Amino acid sequence: MSDQKLFTSVQVGKQELKNRLAMAPMTRNRAHNEAKAPIELHRTYYSQRASAGLIISEGAQVSPQGMGYIDTAGIHSPEQVEGWKKVLRDVHQKEGVMYCQLWHCGRVSHTCFQDGGAPVSSSSKNAGGQSFTPNGFEPTSDPRALSTGEVQDVIDDFRAAAGNAIEAGFDGVQVHGANGYLVEQFLHDSINDRTDRYGGSIENRARFLFELLDAVIEEVGTERTSLRLSPSNLMNTENDSQSKALYEYIIRKLNADYELSFLELVEPLADLDEHPQLARDVLEYYGPFYDGVLMTNGGYDRASALSVVAEEKAEMVSFARLFLANPDLPERFERNAPLNEPDQQTFYGGGAKGYTDYPFLEEAGEVEVEAG
Ligand SMILES: Cc1cc2nc3c(=O)[nH]c(=O)nc-3n(C[C@H](O)[C@H](O)[C@H](O)COP(=O)(O)O)c2cc1C
Repeated sequence: MSDQKLFTSVQVGKQELKNRLAMAPMTRNRAHNEAKAPIELHRTYYSQRASAGLIISEGAQVSPQGMGYIDTAGIHSPEQVEGWKKVLRDVHQKEGVMYCQLWHCGRVSHTCFQDGGAPVSSSSKNAGGQSFTPNGFEPTSDPRALSTGEVQDVIDDFRAAAGNAIEAGFDGVQVHGANGYLVEQFLHDSINDRTDRYGGSIENRARFLFELLDAVIEEVGTERTSLRLSPSNLMNTENDSQSKALYEYIIRKLNADYELSFLELVEPLADLDEHPQLARDVLEYYGPFYDGVLMTNGGYDRASALSVVAEEKAEMVSFARLFLANPDLPERFERNAPLNEPDQQTFYGGGAKGYTDYPFLEEAGEVEVEAG
């Protein structure tokens, strides 16, 4: 296969995507309204990026309880569904395809988002992180452990949110099983100290994830359901003492019992020297275990994305920061054109600046296109 396979179409679920470049999910904290619904700016931002083979939305909280950061757009209320409908209309008009990332922050939250109550988790262990609140960064609040019955309520929230996403026009959903949020809070034994059927063995710790997937799939179909995992990330977690066995179990079960539209695996960007139990190269280690469509993410540039797809180690590559700064990333990559630099100051919160004002190639003027 040619080294340009990245720019060829690929089948994901029942859809034929125009290329193998995805926009990775990115929280941008711009739902500046009571309803926490997408606004006009979201429409512009996402439709500018419709040349991606697939856009994965920012993490959208599945319930008020699932919120952990200021002004994140949700997918649990009628106002939010209406807001997303407009986004999807614009994205589809430009022939874009877009999934909704279903998010529950769990303990990575603050009492100010929980009507003064405690955020929920698998246990009462504090995330020991920072929460981006209306008063700036504040330490994450002490969570309380969900009761066994309440776990079912959260699963029902995911199910309803998945249905809302399809009603809003999304082409599919992605369960956020990465980066230390609620799913990982059940998976990882550094956090989960439960004694019910959601704690203890690997099988028990993974039960929440699989029951959640079952509910979402029942609602929207397996061909519209995807999953994001970050087996070796240390974000908001100390991960798991038997990490490789845990994630191998998950991936083997996905092979045996599920036919997801795709699985996205995130590479660790942190130094893992003090964590020898974690796989350093996630795709290299776990990729061979997985039988379905794989998307890889984390630290890719044009050259590494071209080669990982040409070598058939993954079907797709997702880009976060590069897509944030380059609305026309596929075209820039195809032409090997220069890239805009992402501005970290405008990643979270604010308005159009650093959101919808990154220039397209033609706006950037005559470009020097490099050979190769
Ligand atoms: C501004 C910003 C917001 C992010 N928000 C999310 C999110 O909502 N959900 C998620 O799974 N990952 C999120 N991530 C992580 C990215 O999806 C991605 O895994 C990470 O940036 C590495 O990919 P990259 O090297 O292409 O940027 C975010 C990253 C950035 C830079």
